Amino acid sequence: AFVGTVEAPSKVILFGEHAVVEGYGAISMAVDLRTRGKIFESEKDIVINLKDLGRSLTLDIENIPKLDLKNYNSGVKYVLCAIKSIVNYLKDRGYEDFKPFKLDISSDIPISCGLGSSASVVATTIKSFLSTNAISIPKKELCKICFSVEKEVQGRASITDTATVIYNSVLKIKNSNDFEVLKGTKLYKLLKGCHFLVVHVEKRKKKTAELVKEVAEHPRKEEIFRSIGKIVDKVEEVSTWEELGCLMVKNHELLRELGVSTSKIDKVVELGSRYGYGAKLSGAGGGGIVIILTDEDRREELLKSLKELEVLDVFECKVGMKSENQ
Ligand code: MEV
Repeated sequence: AFVGTVEAPSKVILFGEHAVVEGYGAISMAVDLRTRGKIFESEKDIVINLKDLGRSLTLDIENIPKLDLKNYNSGVKYVLCAIKSIVNYLKDRGYEDFKPFKLDISSDIPISCGLGSSASVVATTIKSFLSTNAISIPKKELCKICFSVEKEVQGRASITDTATVIYNSVLKIKNSNDFEVLKGTKLYKLLKGCHFLVVHVEKRKKKTAELVKEVAEHPRKEEIFRSIGKIVDKVEEVSTWEELGCLMVKNHELLRELGVSTSKIDKVVELGSRYGYGAKLSGAGGGGIVIILTDEDRREELLKSLKELEVLDVFECKVGMKSENQ
């Protein structure tokens, strides 16, 4: 029988990617492209169907703490590591006799393009375990567990994706471990009224780690990071969509100087600035996504031009996931 649904949003970096790796601030935002977990009753095991990967996992609850993750590839590994981590976390706190359940996971989020799909799947998996067992833990704790999963599977990670997906809000990332939720602030209120397009421009040609390494070897990186840091400091003071869009374009120019843009990404940013308030590459780059702050009066022209450029996907987004059934 059907028990309920849990969901998690995805994220975009609005300002500050790459510089954040070197200790400068960044601003991220949750967007309403979601991962859904449908929970059903189960007789004995935990059964997880990863609809998008065409994989199904059957787990004997007793064996979960000893699961060996070495032989799994990353999509499946995130889910298994998530289950193992929440079971061990709860066992350490005296919980036992966990209920089995069946979970169907599906996602709107394109993978490996900077939208935080893995963090969203990890959060959905852990929330479904907690929901089935009627256990609630503070968001801060949930965030710690999800971040440890990202670190274990990826080797290296910043808190950005996990925290943004769990708090479902606008966040100031202070460094790779620390963040502040900006709900209720001047910037949050301004962003709440914005309409964004998230454009999946092209498949990324390089992995995040490779791009971060290339950037680390850039001869002018210090100067460029400082300029990006100054933009992030200014963002919290802006009052209009025009100012916000202008800072997005400035941040994009600096990412271009760092060498992480592509000619197609630049074309999309140019269209976004022509028909909207501004646009920029979002995430590690080398392809991936552009975020556009749209002018609703000129949206149709923008969409038509994007179609002509043959981008992969266009999603309309506002801040955060609209409803949260936890
Ligand atoms: C990748 O989405 C963003 C980077 O700043 C890397 C990171 O923060 O982990 C490039």
